[in-house]
Amino acid sequence: MDAVWLSPIYPSPMADFGYDVSDYTDVHPLFGTLEDFDALVGEAHRLGLKVVLDFVPNHSSDEHPWFVASRSSRDGPKRGWYVWRDAARDGGPPNNWESLFGGPAWEWDEAPGQYYLHLFHEKQPDLNWRNPETRGAMLDVMRFWFERGVDGFRVDVLSLLIKDEAFRDNPPTPEWRTGYPPHQRQQRLYNEDRPEMRELVREMRAVADEYDERVLIGEIYLPLDRLMAYYGEDLNGIHLPFNFGLVLLEEWEADAVRRLVEQYEAALPEGAWPNWVLGNHDNPRIASRVGPSRSRLAQMLLLTLRGTPTCYYGDEIGMHDVEIPPHLIVDPVGKSAPGHGRDPERTPMQWDASPNAGFSTGTPWLPVPRDYAENNVEAQRNTYRSQLALFERLTELRHELRSLATGSYRSLDTRTEPVFAYLREYEGERVLVALNFGSSPEEVDLSEAGTEGELLCSTLMDREGGVDPKRLALRPGEGVVVRLPG
Ligand code: GLC
Repeated sequence: MDAVWLSPIYPSPMADFGYDVSDYTDVHPLFGTLEDFDALVGEAHRLGLKVVLDFVPNHSSDEHPWFVASRSSRDGPKRGWYVWRDAARDGGPPNNWESLFGGPAWEWDEAPGQYYLHLFHEKQPDLNWRNPETRGAMLDVMRFWFERGVDGFRVDVLSLLIKDEAFRDNPPTPEWRTGYPPHQRQQRLYNEDRPEMRELVREMRAVADEYDERVLIGEIYLPLDRLMAYYGEDLNGIHLPFNFGLVLLEEWEADAVRRLVEQYEAALPEGAWPNWVLGNHDNPRIASRVGPSRSRLAQMLLLTLRGTPTCYYGDEIGMHDVEIPPHLIVDPVGKSAPGHGRDPERTPMQWDASPNAGFSTGTPWLPVPRDYAENNVEAQRNTYRSQLALFERLTELRHELRSLATGSYRSLDTRTEPVFAYLREYEGERVLVALNFGSSPEEVDLSEAGTEGELLCSTLMDREGGVDPKRLALRPGEGVVVRLPG
């Protein structure tokens, strides 16, 4: 590991598990104090690890003193810090915008009688980024943490920050049907990816550039062309706009993955650094999406494609989604839109076979699965060829081989449908990756890459030695990393 990203650690009433921040410059007592945080950063840096915090700029908690002041009077100094609007003529909400968690995005506030906007939970009022004071205060929040030594931010729902000045209605999504995720009901034409975002992204980057070696990662779910704009003209925007292609991919097949990788590579602006994500706290886990056997292959893909990989905790040991009985659901989305909740992928990290999988001696917010006693870090450490051993081997290879860390990428023609293969090269160092997405053994001719090679890693962790790329044999679901002569 090179860096850890912590989801929000700030004081919060936890209506959305920390994404409802009531103080941007402190630590929730559940997690410790600012001093504990300093110690954590110090120790991480001593170990050569970077620390990335979650920055939640779109909304605060309704319990944040700014919002408490904002709602208290119509002409108070903080009124303009949030998005307040008068009711429509019929007394209803000012426009048709919907919350991404479901239901109207507007909440009526009795005194002084206006609606406030919340694109998420009603306890998450949207900040008004058009207000220069709010903007200044939020950029200062970034500085506060940079000063404390934080290496960067993962910026929450970055593309939503600026809303249409005229508050025009959003069109519905024609294909939407009951049971689909609530956040897909509307096309967010007027409250996402507004043109003014460009300038804002440049301002955030300028703040990061006041310090050495800091990174900005943006949470942005947009089609490729619009996503790329967040790198900024002349790359003066976000360093890494999250690439969720693999998270959203529906068919987990060689051809679909190859197309995705090629489209992404082709869309990148010149000089922009790519990144790949397999999972996060808002989407079903990779092991549940592709099945336990192919989750190893997915890991090899993530760690050998060109770009910075992001691994969601637990995916390195193949943790799967946990079915949460209705009375234990805590996620607001799980409560309002059954079946779309995010609790299944948020269960405690499975460290060992002790109670609560060694995650806590208290009662965790969510249960551990039945198989935790077999599937945990300690068990995998003691098991030859475990998925964790594979993960460690692959990260080790990334550190050893410049070709994997920063080398170029080129797809290879495998002429065999279930196999996806590519070449990574850096100054004469050449590495071939071949992944069999199918459930039968395959033999591929990759002689275009070379005629002899050394097997550095198989997803099954059970072989090494010389291989011939002309007759490269792959077992069902097997992936290999092969070093080729320079
Ligand atoms: C982001 C977070 C998600 C949160 C939402 C509102 O999508 O990843 O967990 O609920 O923003 O802050």
